Amino acid sequence: MIFEHQDFDGHEQVVFCSEPAVGLSAIIAIHSTALGPAAGGCRMQPYESEDAALADVLRLSQGMSFKNALADLPLGGGKCVIIADPASPKKPALLRAFSQHVQRLAGEFWTAIDVGVSPADADVMAEQCDYIFARASQYEEGFNPSAFTALGGFNGIRSAVAHVHGHDDLEGVRVAIQGLGATGSRLARHLHDVGAKLIVADVNDAAVADVVARFGATAVAPENIHAQDVDVFAPCAMGAVLNDATIPELRAAIVCGLANNQLAEPRHGATLRERGIAYVPDFVVNAGGVMGAATVIYGPPSRDESLAKIDGLFDTITSILRTADERGTPSSQIADELAQAKIDEAAANRA
Ligand code: NAI
Repeated sequence: MIFEHQDFDGHEQVVFCSEPAVGLSAIIAIHSTALGPAAGGCRMQPYESEDAALADVLRLSQGMSFKNALADLPLGGGKCVIIADPASPKKPALLRAFSQHVQRLAGEFWTAIDVGVSPADADVMAEQCDYIFARASQYEEGFNPSAFTALGGFNGIRSAVAHVHGHDDLEGVRVAIQGLGATGSRLARHLHDVGAKLIVADVNDAAVADVVARFGATAVAPENIHAQDVDVFAPCAMGAVLNDATIPELRAAIVCGLANNQLAEPRHGATLRERGIAYVPDFVVNAGGVMGAATVIYGPPSRDESLAKIDGLFDTITSILRTADERGTPSSQIADELAQAKIDEAAANRA
């Protein structure tokens, strides 16, 4: 039952998409359109169950509402998941079939890249759909909009280090990066460029070998990455990595990474605070991607404007961490309250 699902949060629409002929099973969740059309990425993953996919899309879409609100974008929040293996040869057919369901929403929902869906895949979706952003063809050859997200992560780490240590010089600062995909590998490059020491893990050996070779990073086993003796733990892979098992093992004073939904449950924000760990809320620091890529939804794209917004994350994060300390409240709660207030205000003005 959707309305009683533990991750249901007053979502405006949840759309189940089925095309048996191509084997498509997908879910679109529109959490809020109070601030503008709902926008959020499309994830392709072979979920172990429909319920796992539903829980993911409900949580991710709510996260997008908060992310877009705090990023000051005229966008609501939504997300979609396609239940399939992204390595399947049927991928283009699934993307084309799915995109027609997005088209039917007539601009209420815009989608883009996420885990398992690349900018080139976004172009495949755009063949039959007008509401796709972060497409490869929107950018110069070889550019991946995940670069915007990684830059936001770098600004976030600088801001958190400045908050904790009083300066944002990252020379010699030790950072453990979990996940070396589109965002993690680019974050590694920014950090390496300013002299940070990298400890890295990924379940993909080739991704690890690449970052070790390029940036002199030290590789550790994926199951131990969160417990390294480092200054910053940067989760850049999957969600729920901050949980009852991992938080007691953290040795970093700062958690700042780009993965969505890092807290297994909201109460883990309080657990981090009790342990004296400065946690940079995921949806705040990973907004760089949408700041950079989503401008096409509401105006002419401007790289300079996007970069200025991404630079602004430094001050936003400083302010959230300071307020959290002043009030003795989890930073995750401060960020949630700020985002919810913006959404509520827009909804009240619309009513
Ligand atoms: P990606 O799929 O390119 O990279 C993820 C990497 O994590 C892969 O290399 C994968 O092998 C690795 N991985 C998977 N399980 C792992 C484990 N147990 N331990 C260590 N590594 C593991 O994905 P991308 O784009 O880098 O996204 C990562 C996270 O950031 C996701 O949660 C995504 O939703 C979030 N995000 C990404 C944005 C973007 O612009 N790409 C924007 C905002 C959030």
